[in-house]
Amino acid sequence: MLVSRPSLYLLAASLGLATAQQSSSTNLTALYGSGLSPGAEIFYPSDPDYSEQVTQRWNLYDAPTYFGAIKPATEADVQHIVNVSAQNNISFLGTGRGHGSTSTLEAVNGIEIDLSNFRTVDLDAENSKITVGGSVNFSQLFDPLYDAGKMLPFGNSRCVGVLGASLGGTVGNLQGILGLGVDYLNSVRMVTANGELVEASNTQNADLFWGMRGAGANFGIVTSATFNLHDNVNGGNLTSIDLLYPGSANTTIYEALKTYDDDIPNELTLNVFSLYNQTSRQVRAPRFAQRKRIKISVANISFNKQSSVVVNVVWFGPEEEVMQHIQPFIAAGPTTNNTKTARWTDWWTVADFGAYVSPSATDCVDGQYYNSYTLGIKQTDPVAMTALFNNLTEFSKANPDFTGFFGVDRYPNAVTLSVPDGDTAYPYREIKSQVTMQSNYHPNSTLDNAANDFFRDARAAVQATSGFDNLSVYVNFAHGDEGPAVWYTPEKLENLTRLKQTWDPMERFSFYQPVPLHYS
Ligand SMILES: Cc1cc2nc3c(=O)[nH]c(=O)nc-3n(C[C@H](O)[C@H](O)[C@H](O)COP(=O)(O)OP(=O)(O)OC[C@H]3O[C@@H](n4cnc5c(N)ncnc54)[C@H](O)[C@@H]3O)c2cc1C
Ligand SMILES: *[C@@H]1O[C@H](CO)[C@@H](O)[C@H](O)[C@H]1NC(C)=O
Ligand SMILES: *[C@@H]1O[C@H](CO)[C@@H](O)[C@H](O)[C@H]1NC(C)=O
Ligand SMILES: *[C@@H]1O[C@H](CO)[C@@H](O)[C@H](O)[C@H]1NC(C)=O
Ligand SMILES: *[C@@H]1O[C@H](CO)[C@@H](O)[C@H](O)[C@H]1NC(C)=O
Ligand SMILES: *[C@@H]1O[C@H](CO)[C@@H](O)[C@H](O)[C@H]1NC(C)=O
Ligand SMILES: *[C@@H]1O[C@H](CO)[C@@H](O)[C@H](O)[C@H]1NC(C)=O
Ligand SMILES: *[C@@H]1O[C@H](CO)[C@@H](O)[C@H](O)[C@H]1NC(C)=O
Ligand SMILES: *[C@@H]1O[C@H](CO)[C@@H](O)[C@H](O)[C@H]1NC(C)=O
Ligand SMILES: *[C@@H]1O[C@H](CO)[C@@H](O)[C@H](O)[C@H]1NC(C)=O
Ligand SMILES: *[C@@H]1O[C@H](CO)[C@@H](O)[C@H](O)[C@H]1NC(C)=O
Ligand SMILES: *[C@@H]1O[C@H](CO)[C@@H](O)[C@H](O)[C@H]1NC(C)=O
Ligand SMILES: *[C@@H]1O[C@H](CO)[C@@H](O)[C@H](O)[C@H]1NC(C)=O
Repeated sequence: MLVSRPSLYLLAASLGLATAQQSSSTNLTALYGSGLSPGAEIFYPSDPDYSEQVTQRWNLYDAPTYFGAIKPATEADVQHIVNVSAQNNISFLGTGRGHGSTSTLEAVNGIEIDLSNFRTVDLDAENSKITVGGSVNFSQLFDPLYDAGKMLPFGNSRCVGVLGASLGGTVGNLQGILGLGVDYLNSVRMVTANGELVEASNTQNADLFWGMRGAGANFGIVTSATFNLHDNVNGGNLTSIDLLYPGSANTTIYEALKTYDDDIPNELTLNVFSLYNQTSRQVRAPRFAQRKRIKISVANISFNKQSSVVVNVVWFGPEEEVMQHIQPFIAAGPTTNNTKTARWTDWWTVADFGAYVSPSATDCVDGQYYNSYTLGIKQTDPVAMTALFNNLTEFSKANPDFTGFFGVDRYPNAVTLSVPDGDTAYPYREIKSQVTMQSNYHPNSTLDNAANDFFRDARAAVQATSGFDNLSVYVNFAHGDEGPAVWYTPEKLENLTRLKQTWDPMERFSFYQPVPLHYS
């Protein structure tokens, strides 16, 4: 269905004139309609079914502004939309699964190119490859891969876009055994800024392919991509153990974690969450979820104004062997534990460590309000982490509307380091742990300033003991305030700025952690 709308720009558009300002009154049907295939659709935010029809954002913090959305049905539609947008000076953003959260997106005032018609999954088990459309999510891959005895690194959320994640890196629980998702990318088909459809791989447009692997949001819209696959590890099963500790054990836990800085089996992943349980209240599903009657498991949690630490262990090996590898955490005396074996695809169903940080509680719910800051570290400093936890606890007590945690995810990086740094734009193979500080105080954005001040100081304090000289942040976890040197490093920006000048000189793909045209 092509929806139409009054337009002040209809005349100018029909005369083929570029208009300087576009807005909610733009008649997108007049501008784009005639060149689109019959399967393509145009939507306006005022349409009653807009939120059902158009991919919504997971996070409302610093969200983009759209005056319309177009759902292309073919690659030629994507080319047409990119061409017409360029001719009419209309900003656009390609959307896969809407989980991208960075304050740089706040600059968007244009149209959403909703890629939800690009969701095919073609498994070629014989050649150990899989080809996926531009907005396929990880959960679509689970059954086909598991049934074929194959694996591919995935982000710890099922609902994230495979390309959104992998064009930046894809870190997660499988990183220890498999390395980064970006290293499994074999080729991409993409529409570039001038509307061309090109392929990039190690043999075609190899320079562009280098940039797509780490800075991929910057050079075009990927309609489909082929990944190489890995054979199952441990028969495709993992063991997941949750260990719960009182907050008073925090320093002991960080000291235990530190013993894994230089010595950790590839098969082991440690996800350490430190949090403060707020005062007793019922957490309600966001309005969006209520309206769509999406059931989410955050209903009756009793919060009790206590701090606690949860360690989630993921082990890709025989269950009976895991204990010998986690003695420092056992010695710390967990008050409860939860041990389960599951398919590698089902970690999110078995890891259960308190509603706010549980992988399954919030990762698939749109329209939430999260403010997060992260950084990568290559050493654990128990003193700095204790200070951060104490500060976070104090901040939580002072702000009862604030629910937050900080997490340290130790992903073994030996396999990640086995790929030479120069092979891809991804800059941070040396990161050993991802530190995430995340908070949620929706709908009370009055806490934005206080939370931002708090987290920026905390990030700087942890950075000072991180083992990195400079702040090092994985592009897909970035808050958005860090800047290109942090997302990409000055070394990588030499190649990346050259690629930007070649492939996107008008900076049309410069909303998601943009690579600048020049950097010195
Ligand atoms: C709950 C949650 C858990 C997460 N866990 C992990 C994790 O464990 N590991 C990890 O690595 N990341 C993780 N992430 C981060 C995730 O990788 C990024 O948010 C990613 O950008 C999401 O992709 P998307 O398609 O869902 O999002 P979108 O918002 O649709 O896309 C984000 C940006 O990526 C670009 N993009 C998306 N699709 C395409 C495409 N087909 N072609 C070109 N550009 C494209 C666009 O610029 C877009 O603005 C997590 C995010 C959330 C919200
Ligand atoms: C928008 O443009 C279409 C196609 O040109 C036209 O049919 C429609 O009447 C226009 N809508 C409005 C409200 O002007
Ligand atoms: C393009 O649009 C932006 C606003 O989105 C405006 O600032 C800029 O001047 C326009 N450029 C041209 C060439 O019309
Ligand atoms: C878009 O523009 C490119 C390059 O100018 C051209 O090759 C392509 O055919 C155009 N595609 C569409 C659908 O307009
Ligand atoms: C992943 O995408 C498929 C296809 O759009 C959808 O049916 C499924 O619900 C998504 N997964 C999750 C966990 O939401
Ligand atoms: C994987 O775990 C399941 C239980 O979740 C079990 O039934 C199955 O036998 C295991 N497979 C292998 C290969 O260990
Ligand atoms: C963290 O551990 C220290 C002891 O090292 C303790 O003094 C502090 O109270 C603990 N913090 C919290 C929030 O429980
Ligand atoms: C939550 O509590 C209400 C009322 O106490 C109860 O009816 C409901 O079943 C509970 N839900 C869950 C998921 O425990
Ligand atoms: C897990 O808890 C059970 C009792 O609930 C206990 O017997 C067992 O020793 C615990 N295991 C660990 C690793 O703490
Ligand atoms: C929060 O407090 C509740 C109530 O005591 C407890 O059941 C729950 O395990 C706590 N959550 C975490 C993650 O510590
Ligand atoms: C820049 O790209 C070339 C290949 O085009 C590569 O050999 C080189 O290592 C890259 N530089 C960095 C810092 O990765
Ligand atoms: C929002 O937070 C501020 C500061 O904590 C508080 O004073 C105010 O009452 C809150 N407002 C709402 C509507 O929750
Ligand atoms: C904790 O707070 C103190 C006092 O404000 C500050 O000096 C320190 O940098 C903070 N540390 C962290 C890790 O947040």
